[in-house]
Amino acid sequence: MSSAVDSPRSAPAALPRTLGNTSIVGLQWGDEGKGKIVDLLTEHFDFAIRWNGGSNAGHTVKVGDKKYAFHLIPSGILRPECTSVIANGVVIDPLKLLEEIDNLINQGVKIEDNLRISAHAHIVLPYHKLQDQLSETAASGAGGGGKIGTTGRGIGPCYADKANRTTAVRLIDLLDDGRLKDKLQRIVAQKNMIFAALYNAPPLDWQPMFEQYRACGEQLRPFVTDTTRLLHHAWKAGKRLLFEGANAVLLDLDHGTFPFVTSSNCGTGLSVGTGLPGPAVQSTLGIVKAYSTRVGGGPFPTEQDNPTGNQIRERGHEYGTTTGRPRRCGWIDCVALRYTAAISGATGLCIMLLDVLSGFNELKICTHYEIHGTKTDWFPADALELEHVTPIYETLPGWHDPLDNVTAFDQLPAHAKNYLARLECHIGVPIKIVSIGAARHQTLIR
Ligand code: IMP
Repeated sequence: MSSAVDSPRSAPAALPRTLGNTSIVGLQWGDEGKGKIVDLLTEHFDFAIRWNGGSNAGHTVKVGDKKYAFHLIPSGILRPECTSVIANGVVIDPLKLLEEIDNLINQGVKIEDNLRISAHAHIVLPYHKLQDQLSETAASGAGGGGKIGTTGRGIGPCYADKANRTTAVRLIDLLDDGRLKDKLQRIVAQKNMIFAALYNAPPLDWQPMFEQYRACGEQLRPFVTDTTRLLHHAWKAGKRLLFEGANAVLLDLDHGTFPFVTSSNCGTGLSVGTGLPGPAVQSTLGIVKAYSTRVGGGPFPTEQDNPTGNQIRERGHEYGTTTGRPRRCGWIDCVALRYTAAISGATGLCIMLLDVLSGFNELKICTHYEIHGTKTDWFPADALELEHVTPIYETLPGWHDPLDNVTAFDQLPAHAKNYLARLECHIGVPIKIVSIGAARHQTLIR
């Protein structure tokens, strides 16, 4: 989760005109600050579209003294003239979604026909959350291996049922009592057998679940549509589309640090998650923290489990907003970033939280790895192999001046400019935006 502060609500105009339809993707392990960039850009777009993940993701946006929390709804909803779409690739926890809708309405946000939700999105049910939590707890017990450190939001089990098909429930099913009843009766019976056998867990009752989720369906019915059709019409009509990727490329199910990943394609699944082909997107902005963080388990070559990491954590307030977990912190990793920029087709970079690095005497950039005595510039996206790499660093001078009063790229301290130039050189993608604080005016556009 990340947060963005907006004051005042006027966007820098120069950049978005050149972007075309734009995809926003995190290039590390999540929490890069995508929310701030999405909030900054939505003003220039007609549609804001979520296409993957579920309530494991999220960010807060501050407008003046109001603070809005987002997990499933694109933050474009804050602008009534922008249509926010939750597309088919998202897994929806209807209880969380309705809570989010209620909170936003109570804060005065208009949520009517400016929110459209795919009838084909899959539904997170109580047994998914239970399975997520039970399997993580069992894995962390005596002799247990394989703990992933999930958010416990039922994301993996829901996507597993999607792939399994016969145990899947989609939003369209919540709108048909007969179909939902049949499905839940059958699926809950199966889940109960599994939970009893594996975890000795008491059985769940399908009936109250049916009542609760059919009621959710009724509440969501006005928003439900064929979003694939909607998006194709919008694209053909020349509407401006902003795609909000959740999680991040290193958490991508196929291309991330498997098995310590989430269960959706975070860097590569836009077409799958929306039904739009690749040419519908002209620009991909890769969002990157000026350092690295990770929550949950898994290898993290540039991790600094030492005073440097602590300093980054405290300066960057690196504690998860969803789970409160302290984030693991370390130096920026250009081997990983070259890979994730390539995988996602990033055409520009947004470097976030540069201000957090003020005050270090020197900074390190990981440029290569050494694996079994061999130097490599390619990222091995496999947790077992990644555990054995040794990072090779380039050391650069730091800067001590705070960046509070910087209003243009040219005003950055020389060593900060040099740091960015080295990142650009090692990653091979131009830096378009540099963020030096949570507020909108603390954004430097190049
Ligand atoms: P899950 O997505 O809850 O299954 O969790 C799988 C892994 O992805 C865990 O290490 C989580 O901490 C991580 N994860 C999932 N979503 C996010 C996110 O939005 N930011 C950071 N980490 C995430």
